[in-house]
Amino acid sequence: MSRKLKISVIGTGLMGIQHIEAIKKSKKAILHSIVDINSNAEIVSKKYKSKLFRRIEDLLKSNKPDGVIVATPNQLHEKHSNIFLKNKIPVLLEKPISHEISSAKKIVNFSKKYKTPLLIGFHRRHNQIISKVKNILSSKKLGKVVSANVLCWFYKHKEYYKTKWRTKKGGGPLNINLVHDLDIVCYLLGTVKYVQAFKSNKIRKFNIEDTASINLIFNSGALCTLNVSDTIVSPWSYELTAGENPVYPITNQSAYYIGGTEGSIQFPNLKLWTYKKEKSWWNKILVQNNRDKKDTKTLVNQINHFADVINKKAKPKVSGEDGLNLLNIFKAIEKSSKTGQKVKV
Ligand SMILES: NC(=O)c1ccc[n+]([C@@H]2O[C@H](COP(=O)([O-])OP(=O)(O)OC[C@H]3O[C@@H](n4cnc5c(N)ncnc54)[C@H](O)[C@@H]3O)[C@@H](O)[C@H]2O)c1
Repeated sequence: MSRKLKISVIGTGLMGIQHIEAIKKSKKAILHSIVDINSNAEIVSKKYKSKLFRRIEDLLKSNKPDGVIVATPNQLHEKHSNIFLKNKIPVLLEKPISHEISSAKKIVNFSKKYKTPLLIGFHRRHNQIISKVKNILSSKKLGKVVSANVLCWFYKHKEYYKTKWRTKKGGGPLNINLVHDLDIVCYLLGTVKYVQAFKSNKIRKFNIEDTASINLIFNSGALCTLNVSDTIVSPWSYELTAGENPVYPITNQSAYYIGGTEGSIQFPNLKLWTYKKEKSWWNKILVQNNRDKKDTKTLVNQINHFADVINKKAKPKVSGEDGLNLLNIFKAIEKSSKTGQKVKV
């Protein structure tokens, strides 16, 4: 087995800490150092016995890491990622790739220009359930995919919205939660051609949505509806069903339903529905349970994949282009939600 790769974590807030924990559990990586301007970082540095730098420039002057995880605020993603890409240090960049399209394009271009890998942190892609579903779709067990339905419903408590940025642009469930679901449906079903979107803030009455309904038409012709709300008491969302994060008590339900001419699949609780003999709603439809156990190691899987990317054993599962594509879909969602019209992505 090759040596463990040295990874530095830039930004040790909520997400950065989770990455440090994941590195500690990884067999392929070790923590090189952390970089943060906040005084709290000293506590983090002591807890994880890690070298602390206050500025990225100081990190670069030292013994360079093999790769970095950029987990700073979205507005700083371009600045921080591009310093490393320019220095030919591979980057795992937290999602979203950036807060705006022009800056996301610059990140993608830097990765190309300096021939240095960029992996975007949509960690659900590293969940084994998602890999299984991808394999089932590729094996054509569902036939031709006709339509998909995604539910992202949960109830966010009052305390959550005491943090003010969450009540402003970008802080609602579309950008915080549904962005992950959108990434998954694009991964599974391909390129989105058209978007139609409706948003509502009728329950919470903040300046951001509490509920939204998104219709997609894929290049393949398949349709998809995604419905998100953080003001519905419900067990149906990836968060509450995949069991990835222990903060969410798990329900044994599903959040995704994908239907084809030969069968349908629901997940995360992975049930495949098909007919044994003639396809007919008058015949008994059979269910095959595929789920063995939940995958709680997606962040560790992501670090291991990042190590393989650095070692040139794998291409990034989530590329910069994937990150940019999602920003374009979001732009279309914004545009459509103002007019209700179908918008080309
Ligand atoms: N994958 C996910 O599910 C998920 C979940 C939450 C957040 N995120 C993403 O992770 C990123 C960070 O979010 P967060 O919630 O951890 O934010 P946070 O505010 O908790 O942490 C950001 C950290 O960056 C540090 N920082 C700011 N400027 C810096 C600089 N110039 N140099 C070094 N450090 C600096 C801050 O001091 C802070 O500690 C965002 O891009 C966010 O969208 C992803």
